[in-house]
Amino acid sequence: MVILNQVNYLENEMTKRIILILMCFSLLGFLLVLNAESPFKYVGAKKCKTCHNTKKIGKQYEIWSQGPHANALKSLSNEASLKYAKENGIKDPAKEAKCLKCHATAAAVDKELIDKQTTLELAEGVSCESCHGPGSHYKTNAIMKNKEKALANGLIEPVEKVCITCHNKENPFYKPFNYKNAAAKIAHPIPGRK
Ligand code: HEC
Ligand code: HEC
Ligand code: HEC
Ligand code: HEC
Repeated sequence: MVILNQVNYLENEMTKRIILILMCFSLLGFLLVLNAESPFKYVGAKKCKTCHNTKKIGKQYEIWSQGPHANALKSLSNEASLKYAKENGIKDPAKEAKCLKCHATAAAVDKELIDKQTTLELAEGVSCESCHGPGSHYKTNAIMKNKEKALANGLIEPVEKVCITCHNKENPFYKPFNYKNAAAKIAHPIPGRK
């Protein structure tokens, strides 16, 4: 009798433990799902502008907006584009996915990944986030000021391999790409940094 009780007791303990372990696993699963449900999303250049257009921080927005990338959508309607389109049976290069994929961030990224509270417009052309990564999670002041945290929250360091995703021979107007010269042409540093 005593022995039987002991066995029962042990079985109950086992069951409790198994239940506890199962609960832990489902909690873990739940957290993983939650995490998977909030991927880094694109917020558009106007969001970056709220902080990145003062003289103190280096007017990155203004510099970008006057450079080639912010104006890349317009090129799909220029004479060269229209000529190329005519010769290659493309109706309207400014609406053609094959061209937009490198000339406009908004057309290149998965629609699901565009934040609904902000705007990533087609007219932005190649926007900040094509090079720096989608900003939904790193765009707060506290995270931006801490590079490690920013990188953990989706900030990408734009190295040559990021450029090459577009600066390659798939582009009908390809020109040989020299990273150092090209990066210098579009430079928009924070003043006082090396
Ligand atoms: C709430 C204000 C704010 C917003 C919004 C913001 N930033 Fe920043 N960002 C900062 C501050 C502040 C720094 C750090 C400046 C410093 O270190 O002097 C910074 C730094 C950076 C850096 C340099 C990171 C490093 O440490 O090397 C990059 C790149 C950057 N931001 C890109 C962006 C992009 C792209 C967006 C839009 C998606 C954006 N930021 C939105 C405030 C902001
Ligand atoms: C999402 C695609 C994309 C990425 C990523 C990209 N570019 Fe570009 N880049 C373009 C397009 C499109 C143009 C042509 C703009 C136009 O219509 O005039 C361009 C033009 C340029 C130009 C002007 C052309 C010239 O020779 O003067 C420079 C410089 C440049 N890019 C540098 C860079 C650098 C440096 C990087 C990486 C840090 C980079 N780009 C990443 C798409 C991209
Ligand atoms: C693989 C990415 C990519 C694709 C696809 C692409 N482009 Fe481009 N395009 C670029 C880059 C990068 C540049 C800048 C090249 C440079 O000057 O270094 C550029 C430059 C151009 C230019 C010259 C801009 C100027 O100075 O006038 C035109 C025009 C153009 N592209 C039209 C098109 C058309 C039309 C299509 C579709 C048929 C297309 N592109 C497809 C990446 C691409
Ligand atoms: C075509 C790619 C490209 C685009 C578009 C772009 N950047 Fe950058 N950005 C770079 C590169 C390359 C650097 C230099 C990285 C380095 O020095 O390591 C840089 C540097 C920066 C820095 C300074 C980091 C430092 O250490 O000084 C900030 C801030 C920044 N970008 C913000 C922006 C914002 C905001 C936008 C849009 C308004 C933008 N960038 C658009 C490629 C890009």
